[in-house]
Amino acid sequence: MPQSSALPYRIHRQELGPMENFVYLIEDVGSRRAAVVDPAWDPDAILRQAREQDVEISDILLTHSHHDHINGIEAILEYNPSARLHLLKPEAEFWGRDLEQPQLHHGGDRFMLGDTEIRLLHTPGHTPGSTCFHMPAGDDLITGDTLFVFGCGRCDLHGGDPEQMFHTLKGLREGLPEHTCIHPGHNYAEKPESTLAEEEEGNPFMHFDAVDDFVHYRMHEHDRVRSQPYHPVPRKR
Ligand SMILES: [Fe+2]
Repeated sequence: MPQSSALPYRIHRQELGPMENFVYLIEDVGSRRAAVVDPAWDPDAILRQAREQDVEISDILLTHSHHDHINGIEAILEYNPSARLHLLKPEAEFWGRDLEQPQLHHGGDRFMLGDTEIRLLHTPGHTPGSTCFHMPAGDDLITGDTLFVFGCGRCDLHGGDPEQMFHTLKGLREGLPEHTCIHPGHNYAEKPESTLAEEEEGNPFMHFDAVDDFVHYRMHEHDRVRSQPYHPVPRKR
C-alpha cells in the first residue's frame, strides 16, 4: 500500500475465509503494538502475521458485529487476554452479547495506539452501530461493510437502514479529504482499496442526490444490475 514512511503506523491486509473478508492489522511502528480489525476465520494467520511483523496485538477493533467479522475474537483474546476490545455503544446494544469489559465508544471518539491516533466514526446503515476507523495522520479509513470499493454494504439485513446509509455515505465524502484511502471489509471489487475521490466518481451509491432514489437503488435495483467484482460506474453528467 502506498504509505509514507513518516507515518506512525502501517496497515497490513489479509484476505481470509470463504466470504472474502479483509482482516487488517494496524501496526504502531514506535511501540510495536498492533490493533486487529475484525478478527475472523483464521486466527492463526492473524497471529502469524503479528509475529512476522514483530508486534503484540494489544487492541481489537470491530467495524460491526456480523459473524464473518468477529468469529476470531476468542482466539485473539486467548493469545492476549488483556487485549482491549473497541466498538461503538449502539453496536454493542444491537449485538446484545455479554462482552467482558469492552471499551464502548461514541461516534467521534479517539484513542491512541502508541503514537497512532485512531478515530471512530459512527456510520450506521449496514448495522445500527457500524463504525469506520480513521487514522488522521495518513487519512486511511477502514470501512468494514459500510463502504466497499465501488459498492456499499447491504441494508436489508436485521438492523440495516438504507436511509441511514445514504446519510452516512454523504457524511463520509463531505467530512473527509478526497485523498482519503479506503480499506473495505471485503474483497468485492476489481482492486482492494481506493480513494474517496475515486469513489465519488465511480461508486454508483455516491451518485444520488435524493434519498428516495438511493433507497430504491440499494433495496431493489443494485443486486439485479451489478455483480462482483465491482468495477467503477461512470457518473451520469
Ligand atoms: Fe456485515
